[in-house]
Amino acid sequence: MSLLIKNGRIITAADDYVADIFIEGEKISLIGKELSIPAGQTIDADGMLVMPGGIDPHVHLDMPFMGTFSSDSYETGTRAALHGGTTMVIDFVLQKQGHSLREALTEWQSRANGNCLGDYSFHMAVTDFNEHTRQEIQTMITHEGITSFKTFMAYKGALMIDDRQMTGLMQEVKKQGGMVTVHATNGDMIDYLVAKHKAEGKLSPLYHYLSQPEVTEAEASARFADMANYTGCPGYIVHLTCEGALNAVRQATRRNQHVFVETCIQYLLLDASRYEQDFDSAKWVMSPPLREKKDQATLWAGINQGLVNVVATDHCPFKWEQKLMGKDDFSKIPNGHPAIEHRMELLYSEGVHKGRITLNKYVEVTSTNPAKIFGMFPRKGTIAVNSDADLILLDPHAQHTITAAGHHMNVDYSAYEGWELQGKIKTVLLRGKVAVNDGECLVEKGYGQFIKRHKVSGKI
Ligand code: URP
Ligand code: ZN
Ligand code: ZN
Ligand code: ZN
Repeated sequence: MSLLIKNGRIITAADDYVADIFIEGEKISLIGKELSIPAGQTIDADGMLVMPGGIDPHVHLDMPFMGTFSSDSYETGTRAALHGGTTMVIDFVLQKQGHSLREALTEWQSRANGNCLGDYSFHMAVTDFNEHTRQEIQTMITHEGITSFKTFMAYKGALMIDDRQMTGLMQEVKKQGGMVTVHATNGDMIDYLVAKHKAEGKLSPLYHYLSQPEVTEAEASARFADMANYTGCPGYIVHLTCEGALNAVRQATRRNQHVFVETCIQYLLLDASRYEQDFDSAKWVMSPPLREKKDQATLWAGINQGLVNVVATDHCPFKWEQKLMGKDDFSKIPNGHPAIEHRMELLYSEGVHKGRITLNKYVEVTSTNPAKIFGMFPRKGTIAVNSDADLILLDPHAQHTITAAGHHMNVDYSAYEGWELQGKIKTVLLRGKVAVNDGECLVEKGYGQFIKRHKVSGKI
């Protein structure tokens, strides 16, 4: 099976040139000008931007959370991702407190394996670090290819670990060649504010926002950076939203530390005015919450300063009926919003088209950096000979409108309903196969492979 892509404008994190790409099997085998090689299939990419497939390193598919499950299965979630140009996702296995990492992995594999259309990997969320857990870390890294360990500094009683466990985990993960990632918000402060608002009868979604002020994130981000610095463990802050938290990272650079930072598309594009509506605001109830316009400016600047390395989604969709679980109490609204399908096109339109970031930066934060940070580069995350042929063809002149009626995610509303976007992803290739063409999905569940990742150094 061979495929030739002719005359595309090839964009990587470093390059921008017109050439042809020849693909044999799952890999790119040749890149050059005016290649005339007989191929099984030829795609004319004249006028198209040809870029590496998106890697979304923060998604929650079919995840048990807040008394329900996120509404996209591995099948519907990875299909929607492919439609939007994301060829690989990294999802989260959640250890149950009192149980092993192995048990959690087995449970997650039973839901995911054989059901994905796109490629996938797992982060291992450590919610109970003890001597048994410590002994499991090495096997996760060397045998399972799971090299990143997620921690929560909030959601006490369910997912949160304390600083004693965090320090121990970091020491072990560093020793074994992995990375610790974190949901960095101060869980105790948030729990206090939630209880206070509820006692005062303040129960609308607005109080979800008011229970997680910027300081809760800034404080935890600084504390995480301090512990990572002390232990020397590579660290990565997920879904960073605000100026205070980014300044904590900026401060860490002054002692020559580097902490990786991920933000998510919603924090760049949406702000806290969404919480001023009635219960409709529940669509944007997520943790951390949306912030202010000044925080959006900080995040865009942070991308260009190289402080924000990744733009992900934290895709964690719930249908409206599930959001209604919190109709009379904001603390019972399942946290999360749907975005897996729209990250690539939203960031192209709002970022590249509007002149906020360059095309090279777009590729860097949506694909190359996730691949490098999480141990998959150069197999994933670039366009090069011997790399997987995971590619998107984006037509910069096409326009389209986001609607719930037209999306592929298993959720009955869109957080971006009616948004008009410039640029449309027309064709998506995953490991040499055309996975999506003109809105039609051409691969079936089971095509997606689990990608074992290699050890990481904390340097990219
Ligand atoms: O609101 C969110 N973010 N839901 C998913 C879980 C998490 O904290 O990432
Ligand atoms: Zn058990
Ligand atoms: Zn989180
Ligand atoms: Zn998340």
